[in-house]
Amino acid sequence: MTLYYEPEADRARALASVLGGQPHGAQDLAELAALVRADPDTQLVILGASVELAEAVAFAAQHRLARPSLGVVLLRDHVDVAVLAEALRSGIREVINATDADGIRGACARSLQVSHQLALGGSAPAVAGVKEGHLVTVFAGKGGCGKSTVATNLAVALADGGKSRVCLVALDLTFGDVANMLQLVPNLSLADAVPMARRLDETAVRSLVSPLAPGLYTLLAPPTPTDGERVGRELVSEILKIVKRMYDYVVVDTPPFFSDQVLAALDLSQWYILLATPDIPALKNLRLTLDMFDLLEYPTSQRIIVLNRSDAQVGLTHADIDRVVRAPIAGRVPSTRDVPVSINRGVPLMVDSPNNPVSRYIQEVRSRIVGQPAQAGDAPGPAHRRRAFTLRRGR
Ligand SMILES: Nc1ncnc2c1ncn2[C@@H]1O[C@H](COP(=O)(O)OP(=O)(O)OP(=O)(O)O)[C@@H](O)[C@H]1O
Ligand SMILES: [Mg+2]
Repeated sequence: MTLYYEPEADRARALASVLGGQPHGAQDLAELAALVRADPDTQLVILGASVELAEAVAFAAQHRLARPSLGVVLLRDHVDVAVLAEALRSGIREVINATDADGIRGACARSLQVSHQLALGGSAPAVAGVKEGHLVTVFAGKGGCGKSTVATNLAVALADGGKSRVCLVALDLTFGDVANMLQLVPNLSLADAVPMARRLDETAVRSLVSPLAPGLYTLLAPPTPTDGERVGRELVSEILKIVKRMYDYVVVDTPPFFSDQVLAALDLSQWYILLATPDIPALKNLRLTLDMFDLLEYPTSQRIIVLNRSDAQVGLTHADIDRVVRAPIAGRVPSTRDVPVSINRGVPLMVDSPNNPVSRYIQEVRSRIVGQPAQAGDAPGPAHRRRAFTLRRGR
């Protein structure tokens, strides 16, 4: 039996109709607790938006140990990080906006699934049997090689106008390039996950991502370097493991050095895009990066080495470059002023100019990751994508 408690009569009626079936409404929390006690088969309780947070938290905490298979879903008029942190700490499974009927039904279905697994003595389905998305980390050992440019455009390409779900994660915790490139103000960022460390789940992570375009979401870097320091390796691992379950692809932008957080991302990656520009310091850093990758035993078959701004006239021949890098270069991306122009406009090149040589190369990388070449005419036209993109920006 599904139980609910919502003190306001109108809202209680509305909630019952959203839930469907024959949910049983309690008059107060004492009656709710009594009903739970009386029926050991009860697996789901929904607490309405008018229930005081402290009461809801106390109810969940009380049942957490006594009845671990009982799922509590909490509705709120505003879901913010503080509420989520407190709710999740108490054992509430999901916090959903009270006006989001589909969200409420989805949360109830997920909670029942978890209860079912727990009743069978298994682990939660979030871990068992769930297909994971591919994680792609874009890295370069030297600054300014084009990591943020490639990561952002690759995320757009992988989302393919909404055909896939993609999360672009900005692990450049010091300067937050992705937010700058997309001209977003990070209202929410990775730093907001800090109070929820070790208790994060999909609901919590969902509250931190910003929608950008159909299928495309971002998890932004904190607005200041001081906030960035609070996001440690374990938290990054925890977040990325969850994000991988939620999206088809996760693209991670990184700072130009091996930090603990970067290593956490690399450890969870299926693909590594390694960038360099045609100058000796960048090429040497690429070689050092490859040596490090060998030591860490990241598979060579999953490394995609890209030479960005490859046409820069800097007196190095292809042979000179190959001699320093000593590994196959998968692609050479030309320099074009369209890249800085697109960054200044805050719209990725892939959105505005899918036929630009840089965009075309990014599509090649996407095809390799997706495992099949993109069909001509498959992707929505630039106008469609641009419109969708513009709708979500300017926040
Ligand atoms: N193919 C290209 N053609 C022209 N300009 C480019 C190209 N790729 C990148 N740039 C320019 O190079 C600069 C650095 O690019 P980007 O910020 O993507 O590098 P990054 O590796 O993320 O840098 P950082 O290490 O500082 O995070 C930007 O101004 C961008 O416009
Ligand atoms: Mg960058």
